[in-house]
Amino acid sequence: MLNQVEELASKAFDELGRVTDVSELEVWRIRYLGRKSSLIQILRSLATLPLKERRTAGTRANELKRALEDAFTEKKSNLERSLAPSLQRESLDITLPGQRVSLGRLHPTTQTLEEICDIFSSMGFQVVEGPEVEWDYYNFEALNMPVDHPARDMFATLWVDSGTEAGDKPMLLRTHTSPVQIRVMEKSRPPIRIIAPGRVYRYEATDATHEWMFYQVEGLAVDKNITLADLKGTLFEFARRLFGEERKCRFRCDYFPFVEPGVEVAIDCLACRGAGCRLCGNSGWIEILGAGMVHPEVLRRVDIDPEVYSGFAFGMGVERIPILRYGIEDIRLFYSNDLRFLRQF
Ligand code: PHE
Repeated sequence: MLNQVEELASKAFDELGRVTDVSELEVWRIRYLGRKSSLIQILRSLATLPLKERRTAGTRANELKRALEDAFTEKKSNLERSLAPSLQRESLDITLPGQRVSLGRLHPTTQTLEEICDIFSSMGFQVVEGPEVEWDYYNFEALNMPVDHPARDMFATLWVDSGTEAGDKPMLLRTHTSPVQIRVMEKSRPPIRIIAPGRVYRYEATDATHEWMFYQVEGLAVDKNITLADLKGTLFEFARRLFGEERKCRFRCDYFPFVEPGVEVAIDCLACRGAGCRLCGNSGWIEILGAGMVHPEVLRRVDIDPEVYSGFAFGMGVERIPILRYGIEDIRLFYSNDLRFLRQF
């Protein structure tokens, strides 16, 4: 009996040494400490032994049982301890919120430009671009504003080169997109239908309503028999598509040296529908652009015969449109890169 116990002991410890995980350990426990294990059988059978043998074998078997139990407990806690760090490392709290994916978006000016270009493209206008650093000739001279013409005062100019040194041609940052009209008419013959979006610059002290850089979209159509009615029809349609079908439009005389007649186009106020409010300065109307029939002198300069051809042109500020739509109080917000502002569009 004693031999049996010793054999069992060495086998049990041997196997325990090879156990590597919790489920193997459980198998081991059942085998050596379970109700049907040899050791328990031995303990049960002790009663049948003669007294002397019972005492030695019984003591040894009970010792072994305790030793196996202790070894089991220790092994178990060792296994669990070695598992804990990896469990901790690999644990995943699926109730945590995910990482926010930050989506980029188009600048409000870009969005508006795209809308404007879409509308005019669908009417057959081609989108063209011109340089932002421009010659005096295109910005002023060819647009019927020779040196010292008083209308130059409408455009506070940032000069790149004043052109005072002999042979230098005066160069500037374009004050409007109208020079693109000249560049297009120099290179192509009627029928012409273009729009020209882009940045323009003014020598301006900035405040809530003035920026030194902003965007304009220029429009130009030249062909035979183009009249003021074509200009009205085109701009009416544009205003309604951009600001809503129910819009009213108003044309009034205005002056620009490169058009004759010149007009200023207004729509009925988006906020009060003409009743008068803060947005429209109580007039009920909001000016959205300047326009007119291309001046014969301008056509003649680019070799288009004003006796045969006529055209209309218009120019509008782009930021003004979201300013009106969303009631933006300060134009400087557009180019100060404040994400709290930009994320709203
Ligand atoms: N270029 C003018 C401006 O910036 C707008 C305009 C364009 C007016 C075309 C008439 C025709 O104020």
